[in-house]
Amino acid sequence: MKKQLEEILVAAKAAVAAAEDEGTLKATQVAYLGKKGALTAILRGMGGLSAEERPIIGALANEVRGEIEAAIEEKLSAVKAAELEKRLQNEKVDVTLPAKAKKPGRLHPLSQVEKELSDIFVGMGFSIAEGPEVELAYNNFDALNAPADHPSRDFQDTFYITPEVLLRTQTSPVQIRAMQGKQPPIRIISPGRVYRCDEVDGTHSPMFHQLEGLLVDKDVSLGDLKGTLEQFAKLYFGENTRTRFRPHNFPFTEPSAEVDVSCFVCGGKGCRLCKGEGWIEILGAGMVHPHVLENCGIDPNVYSGFAFGVGLERVVMIKYGIEDMRYLYENDLRFLSQF
Ligand code: PHE
Repeated sequence: MKKQLEEILVAAKAAVAAAEDEGTLKATQVAYLGKKGALTAILRGMGGLSAEERPIIGALANEVRGEIEAAIEEKLSAVKAAELEKRLQNEKVDVTLPAKAKKPGRLHPLSQVEKELSDIFVGMGFSIAEGPEVELAYNNFDALNAPADHPSRDFQDTFYITPEVLLRTQTSPVQIRAMQGKQPPIRIISPGRVYRCDEVDGTHSPMFHQLEGLLVDKDVSLGDLKGTLEQFAKLYFGENTRTRFRPHNFPFTEPSAEVDVSCFVCGGKGCRLCKGEGWIEILGAGMVHPHVLENCGIDPNVYSGFAFGVGLERVVMIKYGIEDMRYLYENDLRFLSQF
């Protein structure tokens, strides 16, 4: 029996040494030490031993069990450590790999220009006012002194929702909203979308953007308007920019002007950008018509004011030399990521 025990020990140790994973070790444990295992079978046979032999074999059997257990235990931790090591090797982070490039978004060129212009006027003390794109015909036309036969009122030129409600054709109705129920001083700008029934082409879109300005106070003169717009042109297009006021007509301003800036590419000599003119038209402006002040409950004998409206697409196209307005709406990242 002693020999059998020694053989079991040798065989078990060999099995443990050969095992390479946890599963095989567990199976080895069962095969030798389990209920139906080799060692257990020997212990069961101890009943047939003499009283002198029994304690000797018993002690030896315990020793063998202990040794097998210890061998399994030791191998098990070695196997586990090896498995962990292997996993760490495989899951190792390669810090030399280039990082995944994150492409941050950016503001659309129209939004950039809107922000730049707004910053300039806010710097001059204007605050930003908002008005709805779906507007009352009254605010868009009547209150702005646009006569009943004015061509822009025609349904061929304007998107009507009902005869009284429309998509605003200009940001000027925000002037009315800024003045109604308020008394001067008023000093606002208002950027936003406007809509007209225009066919899409390189310089037209049924939806485009304007930035409106309005200042009403005591003793406001045409000189204040000119000074304000000259200062704006210098800040935006460069210190040497000159401005030119050409007589024009808007129903809600009197006198009215179209304002040009000297071409910031050629300085006024004439080039491709200004089409040889030396000047580029950028906005409409004028002194607020007394009727408009009256329509808003402001006394034109006490107060006067000026207003202007800049086309944002125009400014963007001039600034960046963009020849076709449609690029601004196509959301092509190859175009947009240049700004
Ligand atoms: N609303 C005018 C337009 O759309 C521009 C303008 C605004 C003119 C304010 C004068 C004063 O053409």
